[in-house]
Amino acid sequence: MPIDFNQIPSPCFVLEEELLRKNLELIDSVQKAAGCKIILALKGFSMYSAFPIVKEYLSGATASSLNEVKLINDFMGYPSHTYMPAYLDSEFQEILERSSHITFNSLSQWERFKSRVEAYKAANPEKELSCGIRVNPQYSEVETDMYNPCVPGSRLGVTRDKLPHELPAGVEGIHFHTLCENGSDTLERTLEAVEAKFGDLLHQAKWLNMGGGHLMTRHGYDIGKLIKLVSNIRTKYNLEVILEPGSAIAWRTGVLSTTVLDVMDSQGIDVAILDTSFAAHMPDTLEMPYKPVIRGAEHEPVVGKPTYRMGGMTCLAGDYIGDYSFEKPLEIGDKIIFEDMIHYTMVKTTTFNGVNLPSIGIWKASQEFQLVRSYGYESFKDRLS
Ligand SMILES: Cc1ncc(COP(=O)(O)O)c(C=O)c1O
Repeated sequence: MPIDFNQIPSPCFVLEEELLRKNLELIDSVQKAAGCKIILALKGFSMYSAFPIVKEYLSGATASSLNEVKLINDFMGYPSHTYMPAYLDSEFQEILERSSHITFNSLSQWERFKSRVEAYKAANPEKELSCGIRVNPQYSEVETDMYNPCVPGSRLGVTRDKLPHELPAGVEGIHFHTLCENGSDTLERTLEAVEAKFGDLLHQAKWLNMGGGHLMTRHGYDIGKLIKLVSNIRTKYNLEVILEPGSAIAWRTGVLSTTVLDVMDSQGIDVAILDTSFAAHMPDTLEMPYKPVIRGAEHEPVVGKPTYRMGGMTCLAGDYIGDYSFEKPLEIGDKIIFEDMIHYTMVKTTTFNGVNLPSIGIWKASQEFQLVRSYGYESFKDRLS
């Protein structure tokens, strides 16, 4: 049964439970076949009302801040795999208490915090806690510099020349993250670079975290190759392998449902003003940038069809995306449904211009809508003082 968006508040992020489960089933089959652990990267998807579903399939999650660590502890019941480019003195005790794995971004970070790690381990011998170091293999196929952690000047990870021949005592894991929405062929080439540079250290490590960016739920992704690559590296170096995708988990699992508030002519261009904002609700559309798919609309203008630019409701002149063609002229009250709006959206929203945050809901497998949360003045006010 298609979702009746007229029964759903607007704007609203609508996660489809069945689609999320489908992704998780596939990911679970990969981790079982490859003998690795696949965990959720909260930076891409932190909708904690869905964590009980995620937890049915995945046995962990990764955080990049103390707040994400807390969300993992509170709503999944797991200690976190934690990586931050730099830790705060004031937060580190809680990071220790709440994590099972802590990855350091540099040797100086490790040197700075290692005595606290050692003291904590000595006082809590029963607690599972393993530390790792993030490396930069200086190989990435990501074309947008904004998402490429290997560009010269990158602050993310240690290059080979900065590492000794032996892993520092107490460092048991190696972590790299250099993929972004890539296929397993990219992983294959990346692993060649990682092995060429860090192969000696892989032999000494207990675990290897291959970061995120493995878009295994995208149609056409070569899953067999991924399973083979992970199995090979796991057995070759006798390692526990961890993958921490965000996008792959929430990939195409839901939409942002919005409504047309006004339709106008602007110097010969037809514009629809929506009750959403590209800048505040879908910032990647402007940052990446990319043009999101609208359900039922032609992605590129078609001569002869009613064609509109989609405008946000903020006063930012550039808060628009376009143009799209429709079967019939748009009218006030029409629904505009943006596809694939669950990952890297909710986690990035702002109340810029005082716009409300979109509601968050789940279209349940039972074909019922569950409104999880709506936001108003308080959410705007709470971020200011
Ligand atoms: C260290 C790290 N791990 C995992 C991820 C998740 O990546 P993705 O959502 O592309 O799978 C990211 C994304 O930036 C990251 O920086």
